[in-house]
Amino acid sequence: MSELIAYIAPQNVLPALSDCLLILNSSNSHLHVIQADDGDIVQRHYALQMPVQRLVFPPANCHWLIASLSNEPHPAIRTIQHHLVVTAMGLCSNHIDLARSLDIGIASNLSELVEAVLVRQLNDGATLLEAIAICNAQLKGDVSYICHQQGHAQFMFASCLGRPLFVGLESGLRQICCSSLRLIRQRANQVYAMNTGDVVRFGLGAPMLILPNGIEQALQMPAVNKSQGIPHYMLEEIEAQPETLAILVQKYGAGFSLPLALRGKLAGIRSVTLLACGSSYHAALVASYWFETLAGLPVQVGLSSEYSDRDVHPDAYDLVVAISQSGETADTIAALKHAQINGSPRTVALSNSPGSTLTTLVDHSLLTHSGAEQSVSATKSLTAQLLMLYVLAFTLGEARGELSKEQVTAAQQEMLDLPTAVAETLQLTKDIRRWAGMLHRKKNLFVIGRNAHYPVAMEGAFKLREVAYQHAVAFPSGELKHGPITLVNEELPVIVCLPWNLQAQKMLDDLKAVRANRGEIFILSNGNIASVEGTSVIRMPNGLNHLSPIIYTVALQMLAYYCAVFSGNDIDAPRNLAKAKTATLA
Ligand code: G6P
Repeated sequence: MSELIAYIAPQNVLPALSDCLLILNSSNSHLHVIQADDGDIVQRHYALQMPVQRLVFPPANCHWLIASLSNEPHPAIRTIQHHLVVTAMGLCSNHIDLARSLDIGIASNLSELVEAVLVRQLNDGATLLEAIAICNAQLKGDVSYICHQQGHAQFMFASCLGRPLFVGLESGLRQICCSSLRLIRQRANQVYAMNTGDVVRFGLGAPMLILPNGIEQALQMPAVNKSQGIPHYMLEEIEAQPETLAILVQKYGAGFSLPLALRGKLAGIRSVTLLACGSSYHAALVASYWFETLAGLPVQVGLSSEYSDRDVHPDAYDLVVAISQSGETADTIAALKHAQINGSPRTVALSNSPGSTLTTLVDHSLLTHSGAEQSVSATKSLTAQLLMLYVLAFTLGEARGELSKEQVTAAQQEMLDLPTAVAETLQLTKDIRRWAGMLHRKKNLFVIGRNAHYPVAMEGAFKLREVAYQHAVAFPSGELKHGPITLVNEELPVIVCLPWNLQAQKMLDDLKAVRANRGEIFILSNGNIASVEGTSVIRMPNGLNHLSPIIYTVALQMLAYYCAVFSGNDIDAPRNLAKAKTATLA
């Protein structure tokens, strides 16, 4: 997870940065800082140690700095013409087109791209604010950036185009802008969470929101209620998903693909076996639809804890994929070994943990690169598993001649659109919190979906049980009429994943029976469905097809999280649950 931190204050801000690094305790290995040392702009790079130690900076009288933490060895911050400093994070979906139009090379990093767009405008005579407005109109995707111009040493600009950014007031007139909610809640006394499209000026005066017409408005900055405690890792990990997914999209989205040794074997595959438990099992179930549709293959999904006790007869051309965030879950390791003993010749581990036991037992490992997941509940690692399984499914489809070049390109384009769609889903927090306020006291809930959204409903119900301690059960909506409908009444709400696709009309028909039995309905949908008495609708982002299950998964993660918050549960370490210990992390 890369992070941005900017500071500006009348006094030296380096000690404050040092404190932030300890609080963040990030797994990033590089820190890049651009700072003003007695008026001179200096750029420094630090290799960060694990576990994180207090950094001692060279003595300086530094009144402003912009720092970025990342796993990239090259700087994400630049000083250039017009004495401009820019640091950006996120994924720009038109990066290549913009870079070509600016003549800066398609390998440029995001900060270089933003800087080039701004400089082009400054060269044409625009003010920095005008340049920012034009830049924001040109950037597509899920990006945020902070910039500073030496001529205006009193302030900086922060621009949010989807990736979360927060502006805060600290003691001693220090102002901070950063990407971590946990950090800002600990450091600042008053915080403004930027909305998509916001441009904020912060510095030595009151922070101001710059409206599109150029008018400045004082920021409404509610005081941080420290008694509420620091937000949970689970929330931080839910909110990290646009970035964790963008990292994978960058790795696998634009023409790059799976390791060559694995690709070489794909054309001969005739079936797929997916082994996993918990949330990873739900990822496997969602992916089974992709392997059928995109790769044209029969798929078997085995619950690890059950699979080891079965008489299995793997085909000689079967591909076994064992899925585990930790790579250390004993059931999944046992299931994989069971498959191998019974003759499975081709095995892949999909894990978030390089060097974990699972990865040492297989022919090929695929890593989800999501960074450490502290909360017991799987969130960012799960959506990363889904994305990797999607890459595997369409690469198999391509290798087996099931997909045309155009279909592969369309699959890759959908990947590029995903981080933005996830960021848009995260903006539904207010509505989802409102639902949680109504739902968290319900003892029993149904979560329903159809097709690939049925396992999404299973995952949503699983999360509600896991962190909100509510008895939630998932059904395919077509099954309601075959039994579960007997339980529906005004006390049993039904949460519905209803993407506007080929199954939508069938689902609307299924829901009539719920209303007829006075069941309250809570619909997540990108369809044009109105909320009416007894039916509340949250409008989901449009534009995804195969990857739509990922955004519904994220929405249900948020719902379970806020239900757990309202119930006052120990969210990151739910009762009776433990996360398998991971080895080193990507
Ligand atoms: C535990 C956790 C689940 C997790 C499951 C599988 O049961 O409570 O949240 O999904 O383990 O973990 P893995 O590391 O194998 O994906």
